[in-house]
Amino acid sequence: MTGLSSFIWPPAPIRTARLVLRESEARDRAAFVELFASPEVHAYLGGPHPRDELERAVPEVPGRRPGVFVVELDGAMIGTVTLEQRDAERPGRLRPDGDCTELGYMFLPEAWGSGYAAEACAAALDWFAAARPGEPVALCTQVANVPSARLALKLGFTEVARFEEFGAEQWFGAWRPIAPHHP
Ligand SMILES: CC(C)(COP(=O)(O)OP(=O)(O)OC[C@H]1O[C@@H](n2cnc3c(N)ncnc32)[C@H](O)[C@@H]1OP(=O)(O)O)[C@@H](O)C(=O)NCCC(=O)NCCS
Repeated sequence: MTGLSSFIWPPAPIRTARLVLRESEARDRAAFVELFASPEVHAYLGGPHPRDELERAVPEVPGRRPGVFVVELDGAMIGTVTLEQRDAERPGRLRPDGDCTELGYMFLPEAWGSGYAAEACAAALDWFAAARPGEPVALCTQVANVPSARLALKLGFTEVARFEEFGAEQWFGAWRPIAPHHP
């Protein structure tokens, strides 16, 4: 069976050296609004959403679905890391049937430049490799989104394709878990 519906969700919170990855909670709502309203965060993601619209539309507990991790630093949310089903209609495939799990990440600008995104994404990929052994993960980012492209390479993604989408050149890459060693 493929698809994230086969996960046991949520997993127990994942602790890294500096961060906690966990399911979202009501107390994260303000940070979710901040993430979606931020022009810096959405510079390569189609532009920010109006804050008043977000205040009305964002649910009491935002992002509570399988594959959405809130990333917490010192007890407060600094971003999200997601492992979700990629829309099979979009360009970029890792399998002929288009079934594919995709990594996404968004961090508040004050949390950039400290390696938090890399630390959180690596932990999420480790979790995925254990939950779905052998399965690859896709990632799509605008070529112009330099910090995101650097992060993708740092995490071990390799280029599969480049294509034009949303009026910009996109980099589509794959991450494959290291096969377990059988002596
Ligand atoms: C993409 C994004 C998550 C990258 O954030 P980031 O903080 O640059 O990424 P990293 O966690 O890899 O941190 C890297 C930086 O931290 C620095 N750093 C500082 N301390 C560090 C540490 N202890 N460990 C590792 N890196 C550290 C690195 O030197 C690097 O800085 P540099 O690029 O100036 O050399 C962030 O720019 C973002 O949220 N963008 C908006 C959303 C977005 O575009 N998402 C992509 C969707 S496809």
